[in-house]
Amino acid sequence: MLQFLLLPFRRRYATFTLAIVATFACLALAQIWGAFWVAFAIAATLSLLGVHDLMQTRHSVLRSYPIAAHFRFLLEHIRPEIRQYFLEDDSTGTPFARKKRAVVYQRAKGQLDKVPFGTQLDVYDTSFEWLSHSISACEPSSEPFRIMIGGPDCTRPYSASIFNVSAMSFGALSANAVRALNKGARLGGFAQDTGEGGVSTYHREHAGDLIWEIGSGYFGCRNDDGSFSAERFAATARLDQIKMIEIKLSQGAKPGHGGVLPAAKVSPEIAATRGIPMGVDCISPSRHRAFSTPVELLEFVAILRQLSGGKPTGFKLCIGHPWEFLAICKAMLQSGIKPDYIVIDGTEGGTGAAPLEFVDHIGMPLRDGLTFAHNALVGLNLRQHIRIGAAGKITSAFDIARVMALGADWCNAARGFMFAIGCIQSQSCHTDRCPTGVATQDVHRQRSLIVADKAERVFRFHQSTLQALAEVIAAAGLRSPGQLTLDHLWRRVSPNRVESFAQIYPSLAPGALLNGTDDPRYAAAWALARADSFMPAAVHPLTASASLQAA
Ligand SMILES: Cc1cc2nc3c(=O)[nH]c(=O)nc-3n(C[C@H](O)[C@H](O)[C@H](O)COP(=O)(O)O)c2cc1C
Ligand code: SF4
Repeated sequence: MLQFLLLPFRRRYATFTLAIVATFACLALAQIWGAFWVAFAIAATLSLLGVHDLMQTRHSVLRSYPIAAHFRFLLEHIRPEIRQYFLEDDSTGTPFARKKRAVVYQRAKGQLDKVPFGTQLDVYDTSFEWLSHSISACEPSSEPFRIMIGGPDCTRPYSASIFNVSAMSFGALSANAVRALNKGARLGGFAQDTGEGGVSTYHREHAGDLIWEIGSGYFGCRNDDGSFSAERFAATARLDQIKMIEIKLSQGAKPGHGGVLPAAKVSPEIAATRGIPMGVDCISPSRHRAFSTPVELLEFVAILRQLSGGKPTGFKLCIGHPWEFLAICKAMLQSGIKPDYIVIDGTEGGTGAAPLEFVDHIGMPLRDGLTFAHNALVGLNLRQHIRIGAAGKITSAFDIARVMALGADWCNAARGFMFAIGCIQSQSCHTDRCPTGVATQDVHRQRSLIVADKAERVFRFHQSTLQALAEVIAAAGLRSPGQLTLDHLWRRVSPNRVESFAQIYPSLAPGALLNGTDDPRYAAAWALARADSFMPAAVHPLTASASLQAA
């Protein structure tokens, strides 16, 4: 009994007790002085809140600390903002450090993008990397850096910029964001990847070059049962604005994971763009139905290329099981069908929404995946026929130079271009409450993104980044980014030792895989790879596991 009577005096109930005492005190004082009715109302509301907290069964902390625990929830809620505005320094902050974002904002706005006084990086830290420069530096090239994409089976090759907008769907992005990116792409002569959500009217308004991505949902080219429709595909793929076709096998942030757009978010526009019904969840399966083996994948590439009227056709993936990528390579040799290009996405890539385990721990990081794919194609003498694109946290000229040295022919950026149209990295894309109108379907929130202004920013960000790249490679004594090699980049690997990328990412000799390499990174996976299946070949389990560990 005594215990019960003492309950109100326990520290954890102190706020609640004070609220009740204040309620009665204010009620009494209000009889004398009318102004106390306001205080009474506040205290009474808090008391009722305390009663509610005690009675509810959802949050233990509220039952234990009535009223007071709400402050904890409030602080939790504003924690990201407090960290971003007050605690992060310029080189920290994830996924993109403030410094990385700042340079995008400055370039997009046409502001001064220089820094004073010297580097803030610790150049003796083991993650430090740099590009070696030349005593005989060149004049920066004023030519736009472009690359021709399209192999011998392609009748309409595309001259692409080496820096393009990576795949992001209308649905993940707002209509105004899609418009601004597309208009910016047209102003700058580069391409926007539609993402797997299909070609919307917003992609078409400003006539900027498009890469049409076909995901497992076949949005915009599907039959009512969700299977691929050749007729619907051909009707859109032949539009002149569409320059390339990309089959999405996987995305770095969530490889092997499908997607669901809840029925509530399927607006009439999204339904029309994707060719799906309203009122039901829109499902992206985790695998394709149009093919199930490596050879069938390549046959699908050939079909899309032909249906599109001979446009460059390739696929995008994050490298998973090494033997699966090599199985596709084996299928190329066996069928003679080659994609015009392959885009390698890294696990560090972004997404509108994905489970934490996938975002953090599934799929190969970009540099490892890119090196693996590039070397595999070199080792099979296929590299000269197939272009490689790369995506994964590329926002600066140095980022571009680094992946091009590792073997990429061009780069895509998703979040970099999101910053250019105003994204502030609040990381609430999955809530439909994007504060900048970039990643929301809420029409009122979208209004904050002014297309004409942001399109100019997209254009300037692209232009200034490539200007910076021209200066970077000129400092290395080079005229084009295609001349960058693994020998141009260096990394500190211990306090007193540095290695070139050529040492860190050893190359595979041309034809090495064909000649039967014993390189542990490739030998076991090559043995497991089958052109007729993504499943590994049956190899003696002990041999396979030993060599895979070595790989
Ligand atoms: C909001 C958002 C939506 C995306 N949607 C797609 C998509 O539809 N298809 C796809 O292949 N990748 C998608 N991605 C991944 C990007 O295209 C890109 O591969 C990845 O984010 C790496 O680039 P980044 O680091 O420059 O963002 C999306 C990324 C973001 C941030
Ligand atoms: S501002 Fe926030 S919610 Fe909007 S796109 Fe950027 S990270 Fe996503």
